[in-house]
Amino acid sequence: MRKKIITIIGARPQIIKSSAMSRAISKHFSESLEEIIVHTGQHYDAGMSEVFFNEMNIPKPHHNLHVGSGSHGAQTAKMIEGLELIFQQEKPDAVLVYGDTNSTIAGALAAAKIHIPVVHIEAGLRSFNKSMPEEINRITCDHMSSLLFTPTATGLNNLQREGFSLETETKATIDSPNVYHCGDIMYDNSMYFSSISDKQSTILKENGLTANHYILSTIHRDSNTDVAENLHQILEALLEISENENVKIVIPMHPRTVNKMAELLSPEFVLNLEQSENILILPPAGFLDIIALEKNAQMIITDSGGLQKEAFFFQKPCIILRPQTEWIEIVENGNAILVDSDKARILEAFEYFSNSSDHTYPNFYGDGKAAEFICQKLISDL
Ligand code: UD1
Repeated sequence: MRKKIITIIGARPQIIKSSAMSRAISKHFSESLEEIIVHTGQHYDAGMSEVFFNEMNIPKPHHNLHVGSGSHGAQTAKMIEGLELIFQQEKPDAVLVYGDTNSTIAGALAAAKIHIPVVHIEAGLRSFNKSMPEEINRITCDHMSSLLFTPTATGLNNLQREGFSLETETKATIDSPNVYHCGDIMYDNSMYFSSISDKQSTILKENGLTANHYILSTIHRDSNTDVAENLHQILEALLEISENENVKIVIPMHPRTVNKMAELLSPEFVLNLEQSENILILPPAGFLDIIALEKNAQMIITDSGGLQKEAFFFQKPCIILRPQTEWIEIVENGNAILVDSDKARILEAFEYFSNSSDHTYPNFYGDGKAAEFICQKLISDL
C-alpha cells in the first residue's frame, strides 16, 4: 500500500532541502510513497520562499498556514495548532521534518502527541549551546522521532551518546526508533543543481564579479544580528578586509539583518557600508545564484550552517561567524575556522586562509544519494 508522508517546510533552508526528497519520490518511489507538502509560512517573502519552488521544481504546497513572523512561542504555537488540524484531516503514515527551525519542532510535537511517527532528516547534529533556539529544536525533535537520518558520523555518535540504539528494528516506533547515517541531502542538492546553476545563473555577470576575486558573506543568526556590538564588529571586519585588500565582498542579505542594521547601527556606519565600492549588499539569493556565488568565491564568511558545508562541497575556505558549529568535521579538518563575531579573529582567519592552499576535502557527506536511501527506509521501516 502507498504510504502517505506529510513533509513540513517553513524556513528557507527546509524548502531547499525538501527538493531532494520530492525529486527522489517523484522519480523513483511514486508507486510506494505519496508526499503531501505543508508550508508553515515561517518564511514568506518571495525571495525567501517562492523563488525556490520555481527554480528547484518543488511541488506547490498542499497547505500553507501563513503563520508569518513572531516570538518563538507565538510562532511555534500557531504552527502546532494549524498542523494538528491538517494531520487529523490527512491521516498520514508519518510526518517528515527537516533540520532545527521552529517549523521543525512544531511539526514533530504536533505529530508525536497524536501518535503519528516523526521522521527527522538532519538528526543528531549538536552545537552543545542551548542558548541557540535551534539546539533546543533539534534535541527535542530527535527524542520525539521514530526514524532518524543523520548526515554525518558526528551526528551518529551524538545520538548514540544520548542513548539511541544503533540496532534497527523491523518497524521503527517512537519508543524504539531506527537511526541511520545516510549522508547529507544538501550534498545531493548541491551536486544536482551545480551544472544547472552553471547554465542558468547570471548573478556574477549582473554584478560585475570575477571568479576567485570576491568573498561571499552571509549573516542572519539572531546572536549576530540582534546584538549591536556583534553585528557592528562583523560588518566592520568585512569593511576593513574589502578596503585593505581591495577585494569585493558580496552579501546577499536576510531581511532580518537589513532590519537590524537600520535599527541598531549608527546611520553614519550604515552609510559608509552602503557607499563602499567594494561592499555589495544584495537581496537574498535564490539557490542557483547562491551556488554560482559559492563556486566562484575565493572565500566564504558566514554564520549559516548551509553555506559552511557548501563551501566545503565546492572546496572553498570558510570563516564561520559562530562560537561553535554542528558541522565540526570541516573545522577539525582545517577547512573552516570558528571566529564568533570577533573582529580581530575574523581578520586573523582571513589572513590565514589568504596564505594557505593545501587543504583536503574528504568525503564527509555521503554519495549524493541520501534522499533515495531515506525513501527506501520510509517504505521498509514505517
Ligand atoms: C530561521 C531559523 C534558522 C535558520 C533560518 C534560515 C528558527 C528558530 N530559526 O531563522 O535556524 O537558519 O531561518 O533563514 O526557526 N523575515 C522577513 N521575511 C521572511 C522571513 C523572515 O522579513 O520571509 C524577518 C522578520 O523580521 C522575522 C525575522 O526575519 O522576524 C526572523 O525570521 P525567523 O523565521 O523568525 O528566523 P530566521 O532568522 O529566518
